Amino acid sequence: MSFKPAKWPRRLRSQEWFGGTGRDQIYHRGWMKNQGFPHDMFDGRPVIGILNTWSELTPCNAHLRDLAERVKHGIYEAGGFPVEVPVFSTAESSFRPTAMMFRNLAAMAVEEAMRGQPMDGAVLLVGCDKTTPSLMMGAASTDLPSIVVTGGPMLNGYFRGERVGSGTHLWKFSEAVKAGEMTADDFLEAEASMSRSPGSCNTMGTASSMASMAEALGMALSGNAAIPAVDSRRRMMAQLSGRRIVQMVKDDLKPSDVMTKQAFENAIRTNGAIGGSTNAVIHLLAIAGRVGIDLTLDDWARCGRDVATIVNLMPSGEYLMEEFFYAGGLPVVLKRLGQAGILHRDALTVSGETIWDQVKDVVNHNEDVILPVEKALTQQGGIAVLKGNLAPNGAVIKPSAASPHLLQHRGRAVVFEDIDDYKARINDDSLDVDETCILVLKNCGPKGYPGMAEVGNMGLPPKILKKGITDMIRISDARMSGTAYGTVILHTSPEAATGGPLAAVRSGDTIELDVPARRIHLDISDEEMADRLAQWTVPVDAPSSGYAWLHQTHVQGADTGADLDFLRGNRGAPVGRDSH
Ligand code: FES
Repeated sequence: MSFKPAKWPRRLRSQEWFGGTGRDQIYHRGWMKNQGFPHDMFDGRPVIGILNTWSELTPCNAHLRDLAERVKHGIYEAGGFPVEVPVFSTAESSFRPTAMMFRNLAAMAVEEAMRGQPMDGAVLLVGCDKTTPSLMMGAASTDLPSIVVTGGPMLNGYFRGERVGSGTHLWKFSEAVKAGEMTADDFLEAEASMSRSPGSCNTMGTASSMASMAEALGMALSGNAAIPAVDSRRRMMAQLSGRRIVQMVKDDLKPSDVMTKQAFENAIRTNGAIGGSTNAVIHLLAIAGRVGIDLTLDDWARCGRDVATIVNLMPSGEYLMEEFFYAGGLPVVLKRLGQAGILHRDALTVSGETIWDQVKDVVNHNEDVILPVEKALTQQGGIAVLKGNLAPNGAVIKPSAASPHLLQHRGRAVVFEDIDDYKARINDDSLDVDETCILVLKNCGPKGYPGMAEVGNMGLPPKILKKGITDMIRISDARMSGTAYGTVILHTSPEAATGGPLAAVRSGDTIELDVPARRIHLDISDEEMADRLAQWTVPVDAPSSGYAWLHQTHVQGADTGADLDFLRGNRGAPVGRDSH
């Protein structure tokens, strides 16, 4: 840790708007005073933007206005001036074609909201899957002091006495309906049982994984990730974070001071230990790209290997975020990594302390939830990065959510050219498929879908489910919900829609998967592969206008984080010219 706090007091960037008696300053201040802010709010104290992804159409973040009030309390207490600012909110549950297509748009909007307005620092108020990475990406590009506060997970779901997890049981129950084992009425009743309080998904899905990533990166206060949305300690966390950001601005403690290469390596190992989402791969690559850190899939392969998955949460395990919180939450996991010698203990956090200082004294209160290493869900946790002629730039699989007997397998490919082709044929009992086959879905990557939807965990054919089979190997260039499970190979790069080798697969081909050897191979010769790809033509109609055009033209591959090419990098927060 080499951070040296800046001198205080000094003139902050917000004073370019609010400080002085010139016409422009009076103009900026005067309009703000229509809200009743006293004159001393503009006296040079830190102005903190509370960037709020609250939206009634982002149900996981619908409680964030209440939390914003607690953040304000903290900012006032520490002598700052809080201003709540709504930012573009991307709901995982309902945004079409997929919230992922708008992660970069939200990041761009946040970046410009911070740069173009009188803010000295920001509290990033997030929760649902894409809101966390998009705000972190935007803040990283401005490099203004920023702290993450997540909304927290929902309480445990219970259906007829059994614990049910967001997403995870949605997939299970929908397959049970398809297999004729559950009625549609029961499914409807289960729906309400799963979502019984405000908050984000209560499994270790993408929202909980990204909350954990923010904490492991050092961008949130210790313990933030797991506190349930409705627990009073979530409000305390918000208030404490509000106090803290004011001091961060005074010290000039920036995202680039916290999100170092070591911090990303800590986060990658943490993701392995928690059995976190495959989506964390894409988001961390994208956030690193904004800070200017050279993070690649090879870092995931190197750091993610041999990390035991010790957090016994769905979808890999049996418990939910509420129990993870009661057990001690992420600090216990970070302490374990530190004890195992695989945590960079000196990594700085937004608290101003090192990550080790924050966690070294915590206690595990439930060894069924945070397991001893010898009882880990798998000793080979983490995300496995596969390579081979089918994925020269890489593909990923989450071994802790896969079926062990399928991790080494040769099978016949059953190919779907795109999601419409899959939907049209998967339920047809005449489909030539059995459980030894490998389902292949093309054209669902960043350009292909477009936006790289969470369709990689494609449901199995009903005739297979009716045999009691619940898993088959599935390969695609799509993503998968962090709440999902199965032997699912994702993010295959380059994607089919750009002429990647996935485009060359045909039904009847043999594919070999060898996860221990990190290999995925299409059993055809190099010449045959070249011949097939020479016949390939662009499969999607490119949009000609609007954001869809911008996305389609500039989105990069999943292997580098699927950011827009012109948004990578740290552009800082120059104050620029006045508007009048
Ligand atoms: Fe929003 Fe899961 S859908 S957190």
